[in-house]
Order: sequence, then C-alpha cells, then structure tokens
Amino acid sequence: MQTKIAPSILSANFLDLEKEIKQVERSGADMLHLDIMDGHFVPNLTFGPGLVKQIRKITNLPLDAHLMISNPEFFIPKFIEAGADYLSFHIETDSEYKKLLNRIRKANVKAGIAINPETPLKKVGQLLNFVDFILIMTVHPGFGGQKYIEDCTQKIQKISEMINQNLSLIKTVPSPRLNRGAQESGIEIEVDGGINYQTAKLAKEAGANILVAGNFIFSSNNYKEVIKGLRNV
Ligand code: DX5
Ligand code: ZN
Repeated sequence: MQTKIAPSILSANFLDLEKEIKQVERSGADMLHLDIMDGHFVPNLTFGPGLVKQIRKITNLPLDAHLMISNPEFFIPKFIEAGADYLSFHIETDSEYKKLLNRIRKANVKAGIAINPETPLKKVGQLLNFVDFILIMTVHPGFGGQKYIEDCTQKIQKISEMINQNLSLIKTVPSPRLNRGAQESGIEIEVDGGINYQTAKLAKEAGANILVAGNFIFSSNNYKEVIKGLRNV
C-alpha cells in the first residue's frame, strides 16, 4: 500500500497556521492530521469543529481528524459536517463502536478506530469489517514531541497479520453485507507518535502505511525534504 505522510498540526505555529498548512501541502504532504483533545480523555485541550471548518476552506489536503475525546458520539456529526475525510475515535471510550463507525462511513468519510499503547488489540479485531483504517498510538496520547514506544512495533505487525487473516476469510466466505472499504482496498494502518526516520522505518516494515509526524516535520527547516525522507525510509 502506498505510504502517506500526515503532518500533525499540533506542532505547527498556530499564529501562522494558514501559512504552515499551505507549506506542508506544497511540500508533498498527503493528508493533514488534526488532533482533537478534550481535556478529559487526555490531559490536554486543542480545538474543535469550528477550526476544522476553517481549515477545510484553505486546503485541498484530506483532513484526518483524530478524536481524543470522551463521548465521541456527540461530536462525530460535527466533524463530518466540518469536512473531515478521515475520522477516528478511541477504542478506550465506552462507545457503540459499530454504530458510530457505520455512521461515519454512511457520510462517505473513512472510519477509523484508534488504540492506545497499553490497550490490547482484541476488541479492535472484532471491528475489522467496520473500519477503513486503524490508528495505532505509538506514544501516550495528549502531547506532541514524545518518544516512540518501541513495543508498539510488534502491535503494528500483529494488527497487520490480523487484517490479512480477515481478508482471506472474507474472500472465502463472500457476504453481500461486507461489500465496501476494508475488504476491497485493504484496511489502512496509521501510526501516530514519535515518528522520525528511524521509527518510520520500523513502523513501515511492520505494515503501517500512514505515518503521522508532528514535531519531526514542524521543527525542521525544510518540510519538503523531511516529508520526502519519511516517505522513502
Ligand atoms: C499525540 C497526537 C499526535 C501528535 C504526534 O496525542 O495524537 O498526533 O501530534 O506528534 P509527534 O509526531 O510530535 O509525536
Ligand atoms: Zn494524533
């Protein structure tokens, strides 16, 4: 699967956000990662659908909204309306996962489930026919600029195997209900946290195809070079 680079604007200069977004767009980013934090699910606050709506107007990049919030059901419709193209919420929330994922897909938005470093993959395994992508956190969510947790590489590998097993199962048992997204095009694996050239390589080799990078891109003075470098590790 094609490698996609998703700069996380969490590490961008917010006073110059439009310029920053246009610059990563010109520098070859494939999508824009938007970290939504509520100060409850994670110990930090960022922004809401209002800003996402504004961002939608100034870029053609697909918007990847990562909801680190409790009770995602209240906000999912608002982020769809704001123009998200990829929308994920966390498995650690006590949600009606299948219902929410279906609601996202019905709006023609890619539906994703995000998972924290300590959370076992078991529950995610039951959702493989309902997701278009899985977001594996490789740091504890809440802040940019943290160090990649090495144990997570195994988890990427494991989910990759689970997806492949699920695919072959579906191929042998065709079901009219399972007729879009994951089965045809393959579920995407997104990694988020502490991505740099070394960790991007680990994640990619383990099966990830969407690499989120915040600090590594925005703290550099050549976004183009870093984005290209990450894509080609
Ligand atoms: C952390 C966020 C990440 C973060 C990644 O809670 O979900 O998207 O911005 O930033 P870096 O690449 O700096 O670890
Ligand atoms: Zn994120």
